[in-house]
Amino acid sequence: MSEEQNLINSNKKPLDLFKEWFEEAKKSEINDPNAMNLATISNEGKPSSRIVLLKSYDENGFVFYTNSNSKKGKAIFSNTNVALNFHWKSLNKQIRIEGTVTIISDTEANDYYNSRPHGSKIGAWASLQSEELNNRNILINRVEDYKKKFQNKNVPRPSHWNGYLVKPNLIEFWQDMPFRLHDRLEFIKNKENWVSRKLYP
Ligand SMILES: Cc1cc2nc3c(=O)[nH]c(=O)nc-3n(C[C@H](O)[C@H](O)[C@H](O)COP(=O)(O)O)c2cc1C
Repeated sequence: MSEEQNLINSNKKPLDLFKEWFEEAKKSEINDPNAMNLATISNEGKPSSRIVLLKSYDENGFVFYTNSNSKKGKAIFSNTNVALNFHWKSLNKQIRIEGTVTIISDTEANDYYNSRPHGSKIGAWASLQSEELNNRNILINRVEDYKKKFQNKNVPRPSHWNGYLVKPNLIEFWQDMPFRLHDRLEFIKNKENWVSRKLYP
C-alpha cells in the first residue's frame, strides 16, 4: 500500500473518524480501550491528569462519570476547560481532545448508575474520592454500613456522583508513520463547523 493510502482521510468528519478508530481499538487493545487521560486545571492554574473511562459519546461530546467532590470534580467546578487523550498502543494511534465540560442530566446519569453492579453503586456512596484515607478498614466499614443502609432497597445515585460531558472544540488524530514522520490531522470547531488541517509531526 502506498503511503498516500495509509494517511488519515481529511474528508471524514471527526466523529466518524473517532468511531472508526475506537471500534478498531476495541478489537485490538488487551483492556480498557475506553480508558482516556483527563487533564484538568485547578483554581490555582495547576494542571492535573488521571485516567477515566469513556462511557458514551455522540455529536454532543464525550461522557465520563466521577465524584464531583474529587480533585478533578473541584478543578472542573472552577475551570471547565479540560483535555482528553486516548493512546491505543496496539494501534500506534493517539486522539487528543480539548473542550469544555458540563454535568449531564440527572435522568441520563441515573440510567447509567442504575445499570451498574450493586457493589459499584455501594462503592460510589462509600468512597470519599480523593480525600485522605487513614486506614483501609475505615473504607471497608463504610462499605458495610451502606450495604446495611440499602439492604433490600434500591440504591439511589448519590448527588455527588455525576456524569460529565466534554464538548470538544479541538480533536486531533495522530498515527504512527515510518521514521517518526507521523501523520497528524487536527479539527478545530469554528462556530458549528469543523475545520481541519494537517500538522507537522
Ligand atoms: C483504567 C482506569 C479507569 C478509571 N476510570 C475512572 C472513572 O471512570 N471515573 C473515576 O472517577 N475514576 C476512574 N479511575 C481512577 C482515576 O484515575 C483517579 O484515580 C480517581 O478518579 C481520582 O482522581 P482525582 O483525585 O484526580 O479526582 C480510573 C483509573 C484507571 C487506571
